Amino acid sequence: MTDPNLIAGMEKPDDAGVYKISDDKALILTVDFITPVVDDPYLFGQIAVTNALSDVYAMGGKPLLAMNIICFPKDGDITILQEILRGGFDKMAQAGVLLVGGHSVDDPEIKYGISVTGFARPERILKNTGARPGDKLILTKPIGTGIISTAIKADMAVPEAADEIQRSMNTLNRIPSELMEEYEVHACTDVTGFGLLGHACEMIEGSDAGMVIHFKQVPVFKEALEYVRMGLIPGGAYRNEEFRKGVVRTAQGITGDMMKILFDPQTSGGLLIALSARQAEAFLEKLHSQGVTEAAIIGEVTSENPGKIMVKE
Ligand code: CO
Ligand code: CO
Repeated sequence: MTDPNLIAGMEKPDDAGVYKISDDKALILTVDFITPVVDDPYLFGQIAVTNALSDVYAMGGKPLLAMNIICFPKDGDITILQEILRGGFDKMAQAGVLLVGGHSVDDPEIKYGISVTGFARPERILKNTGARPGDKLILTKPIGTGIISTAIKADMAVPEAADEIQRSMNTLNRIPSELMEEYEVHACTDVTGFGLLGHACEMIEGSDAGMVIHFKQVPVFKEALEYVRMGLIPGGAYRNEEFRKGVVRTAQGITGDMMKILFDPQTSGGLLIALSARQAEAFLEKLHSQGVTEAAIIGEVTSENPGKIMVKE
């Protein structure tokens, strides 16, 4: 079934579903729930909500309403559940989102997240596709959360590395999303399970644009490369790389270890934004001045190699 008011749906999956309900209003719908990524239940609740809200921000929207989704063992410690929900609730309050309901299921494995309803003006909706040759690419958070989480599980991570990724995963993408409105942004997505390159591929897939990513310009958590060298690599990084190997080429100097970082699956990652080159520096300055201090220009959209990504030093 099709509908002329459907802006983003199942045919070409985007970060969220989008439906135009009037000339000046589009509804944005998304759902995301995850297994614990940290031991602290309160922090896990916050991160799960930050992660789920990210898809609305990636569409250029404002999240408004949410419903809890909870899987929790029936004989589990109820105080843990209360802390998860408190973390989620506090994060929703910070984002200006109203919790309006929810549903829980008895499950031996804990999972938590939310469904979200957001809004945007229809012409403000930013899809994954639409990047134009000449555009610059900006990434708003460092990558490497999957690798560092793997190191934490193996008891190999230094405390600073854990603190860094937790702070990052717990940071809303609200500020970059709101700031995008003032600039000529052509496409946006959030970096999550497919890794930076996996989501970058989605931006140009089937289009007449290619992409160059400069590894040295990509913000990376500083311990990540060392942990990759120690073999602390999540299975998802291999799967992501295998899935996109026909689309990504590497220049001299780019190692297999670097590629594992670029394909590392992220939880609650940053926004990947394609915008007009002449505004890129100004937008970056604005991001930095508004506290998005690790944002960086990481590459550009090209007319060469359509549908392909070239990784350079
Ligand atoms: Co997304
Ligand atoms: Co998502």
